[in-house]
Amino acid sequence: MTNVTLRPTRATDLDTLMTWVNDPDVTGRFARLGHVTREEEQQYLDRISKSERDRLYAVEDEHGEMIGTAGLHDIDPENRTARFGIIIGRKDRWNGGYGRSTITALLNEAYTTGLKEVWGVTRTDNARMRHLLAQSGFREDAYLPARYCQAGTCHDMVHEVYRIGEAGA
Ligand SMILES: CC(C)(COP(=O)(O)OP(=O)(O)OC[C@H]1O[C@@H](n2cnc3c(N)ncnc32)[C@H](O)[C@@H]1OP(=O)(O)O)[C@@H](O)C(=O)NCCC(=O)NCCS
Repeated sequence: MTNVTLRPTRATDLDTLMTWVNDPDVTGRFARLGHVTREEEQQYLDRISKSERDRLYAVEDEHGEMIGTAGLHDIDPENRTARFGIIIGRKDRWNGGYGRSTITALLNEAYTTGLKEVWGVTRTDNARMRHLLAQSGFREDAYLPARYCQAGTCHDMVHEVYRIGEAGA
């Protein structure tokens, strides 16, 4: 099985992040508006590193090369929930098992830090991600018609939930 390591992001990751952050294949399905400048991405990294409600990790492959990011966001310590975010930015690595390993590592991180539920919202046309989430034990618990509108086009979304303990994480 493909192996990945999660480590906290650092300022020097900015160059790598900028190689994929404006690629519509990679981030086009996210609610991010327009082109992201280097300065904006830097500010995002700075803000996340100080936030108590977010944990952002760099995803490294077997050779220590950064190939993506994975995050736990909107962390709610009282209810022990968090929203996931995952990007394998290196398109040449897609379908190689890295996404699956990253979700497993992120759920493990959630488990070891006391969370009991990880949730996310995905566009219904993101077939690869939905397949991956289903395989990883997530359940689709709500269909959200036309929930996310971008550049005048509205997209149906699904709300996915993983309850830690139920599926063996
Ligand atoms: C979604 C993403 C994380 C998947 O990463 P990955 O490294 O390609 O994932 P894996 O290789 O582990 O698994 C991909 C699975 O999807 C399957 N798949 C690929 N294309 C598919 C399609 N069009 N429909 C259904 N399944 C598909 C693959 O066969 C594989 O399943 P398998 O292991 O059963 O064969 C990656 O493509 C990505 O970062 N995309 C852009 C960002 C994104 O959309 N993030 C999620 C936002 S919620």
